[in-house]
Formats: sequence, C-alpha cells, structure tokens
Amino acid sequence: MKILVTGGAGFIGSNFIRLVLNKHPDDEVVNFDKLTYAGNLDNLKDIEADPRYRFVHGDICDVEAVGNVMDGIEAIINFAAESHVDRSIGGAADFIQTDVYGTYVLLEAARRHEVGRYVQISTDEVYGSIRDGSFTEADRLQPSSPYSASKAGGDMQAMAYHATFRVPTIITRSSNNFGPYQYPEKIIPLFITNALENKKLPLYGDGANVRDWIYVTDNCEAIDLVLHRGKIGEIYNIGGGNERDNLSITRLILAALGKGEEMIERVPDRLGHDFRYSIDCSKVTELGWAPARSFEDGLRETIDWYVNNPWWWEKIKSGEFAQYYQQQYSNRSGS
Ligand code: NAD
Ligand code: TYD
Repeated sequence: MKILVTGGAGFIGSNFIRLVLNKHPDDEVVNFDKLTYAGNLDNLKDIEADPRYRFVHGDICDVEAVGNVMDGIEAIINFAAESHVDRSIGGAADFIQTDVYGTYVLLEAARRHEVGRYVQISTDEVYGSIRDGSFTEADRLQPSSPYSASKAGGDMQAMAYHATFRVPTIITRSSNNFGPYQYPEKIIPLFITNALENKKLPLYGDGANVRDWIYVTDNCEAIDLVLHRGKIGEIYNIGGGNERDNLSITRLILAALGKGEEMIERVPDRLGHDFRYSIDCSKVTELGWAPARSFEDGLRETIDWYVNNPWWWEKIKSGEFAQYYQQQYSNRSGS
C-alpha cells in the first residue's frame, strides 16, 4: 500500500512511519509535513534512507502542493495539526487553519483521487472533561480549549465527507501519548528534561488533573489495525487504560531520576483546564487491539530514552522552545 502520512515529522507521525516501514515490507510512505516548530526530521534519521520512504515539505492547507503528492496514494493518515493546548490559548488562528481547513483540503484530495482509506487522527479531548465514567464514541463533543475545538471541527468535516461524498473516512481519538521524540512542551518530556537540566517542574494548579496515558507505539499499532481492519465511517477511541493525576506522574519522574520534590514549582492553573479525560475503548479492543506496555514500563523506557538522547532534545530546548517557555513561564508567574 502507498500511504500519505501528513505531519509525519512530528511525535506520533514519526513513530507511526517507523512502525509501518518495519511491519509492512511492501508499503511505501510519503511523509508530507510543513515542518512547523514541532516538525523535526531528526525524528526520522534512522529511516530517512529507506527507499520506501519519501519526505515532501508542504502545508496541508496548500491545495496544489497536496494535489502534487497524490499520485498513486491509496490511503491518507492525517496526523498534521497544531497540537498543544497552551499554545492554542495564546492564539488559535493556526489551529483553526491547519486542524479544520487543512483537514478539509485533505478530504477534498481523498475525494478527487478516490483513495481507499482516509484516517483522521483525533483526540479524546474533543469530548471535553468528565468527572466520572468514560466517554464512548457515541457521546457528544464538548471541547473546551481552542485546540480541542479545532480538532472537533476536523472530525466533523471527516464525518460530513463520509456522509455526503462517501469518502472512506475513519476517525481515531486517542488519549495522551508519551514516548520517544515527543516535543518537550508536553508534560512528560518537559518534566523529564527539566529535571535532567536541574530546572523546576512547573505543575499547574494543584496537580490533581487526570489524563489517560498511552505509550506512543501502542497508539501506532491501533492506528495500523484500524487502517487495515477498521470499519469505514466509524470512530475508534484508543486509550492506554492508565489514568494518572499530574502530581503522581511528576513524582514518578523525579524518583526515577533521583531528584527530590523541591524540584516541583506550583504555578497558576491553565485557563479552562479540563479536569479529567477518560474514554471507553471497547470498540478498538473488539477489533483485536490491546496495549502492550504498562504505564510504568513505558515511562521507564521514555525516561531512559531522554537520558540517552540529549542530542535530540538539547537543541530543541535551546532553540524556538526557549523563547516559548520563557513567555509561558513569565505569563504564569505573573512577572
Ligand atoms: P506534533 O505537534 O508533535 O506534530 C505535528 C506535526 O504536524 C509536525 O510535524 C508539524 O510540522 C506538522 N504540521 C503542523 N501543521 C501542518 C500543516 N499545516 N501542514 C503539514 N504539516 C503540519 O503532534 P503529535 O503529538 O505527533 O500529534 C499528532 C496528531 O495526533 C495530532 O493531530 C494531534 O491532535 C493528535 N493527538 C495527539 C495526542 C498527543 O498526546 N500527542 C493525543 C491525541 C491525539
Ligand atoms: P499536556 O502535556 O500539555 O497535554 P494535554 O493538555 O493535551 O492533556 O498536559 C498534560 C497535563 O499536564 C495537563 O493537565 C496540564 C498539565 N501540565 C502541567 O501541570 N505543567 C506543564 O508544564 C504542562 C505542559 C502541562
């Protein structure tokens, strides 16, 4: 199969491309990525010479550029997005442009070129926060951040293109991913690398907010399964079944790195901070998927990866990220 992966230079997309090339010897991948601050070709260094892999620099909002890579494409997997909640609070325009308009451009390309499958990579955040119980795919969308609202907009377009034009869409909504190559603005890589640099770990609010965590390759396996065996027109929740509050995760990271709790700095809460995410994953489990990593094993592997690969994250943290973090931090501490 010849697959167009958009956003393949990001965290989950690069892990997905690696999985496809390793698992499916006959598959070819075109990685189409704008290389925003989050896109990084270092994520793919080990596979860039593979003859079945090709990188194309482009924006999913650019109709012509997307059209130019569609030759022979049998499936589109759309990972491309602006993906960070805090950045969406700082300004939502890029989120709406890429996550909604960009998705529309890809759906139009899928329609015109009659691709066999279109997988829209979405998030559990579109359901919003839930105090008790878990959301199923049938629950209504109640996004509360500009990020999750833009992702919900993309989902709606995918559903509409299936209903109206029979574009063969499938949506996956996963919980919080963690693992190698995650940009260090997200809590787990930020806290690991800050601890390694002896910098404070900025914990929002009281640290009681809960996320369900999934190791990135487990999500990639589920996406691969859904791509091949999922039912067209359906939505699949993909979660690790590991609900943890932020303070507990922070403590695990500090303990693993032999650091004390004085490294934690309580900072003012995120605006509109969703308290808890939780999804029911029976549908994807019935397809034959189960996560392979426990949270603790995945976290241990992730910490080891950041410890052993400072070449990857040190240049990120001293580049674009440094300015972003300073801005973010001074906003929160009110100085
Ligand atoms: P990321 O921010 O690490 O990577 C996003 C990638 O998309 C980058 O390579 C970036 O350059 C590219 N991109 C951005 N705008 C683009 C555009 N206009 N055209 C082409 N490429 C563009 O994100 P991630 O964490 O890998 O997330 C991938 C997808 O999974 C996103 O759609 C996100 O909403 C979703 N998701 C992420 C998580 C998570 O925990 N990280 C959880 C659930 C769902
Ligand atoms: P994040 O990794 O940004 O993912 P998301 O907001 O998409 O779930 O945040 C995960 C949780 O960690 C969330 O409850 C906010 C919290 N958090 C902090 O306490 N401090 C931080 O510096 C960051 C980035 C997040």
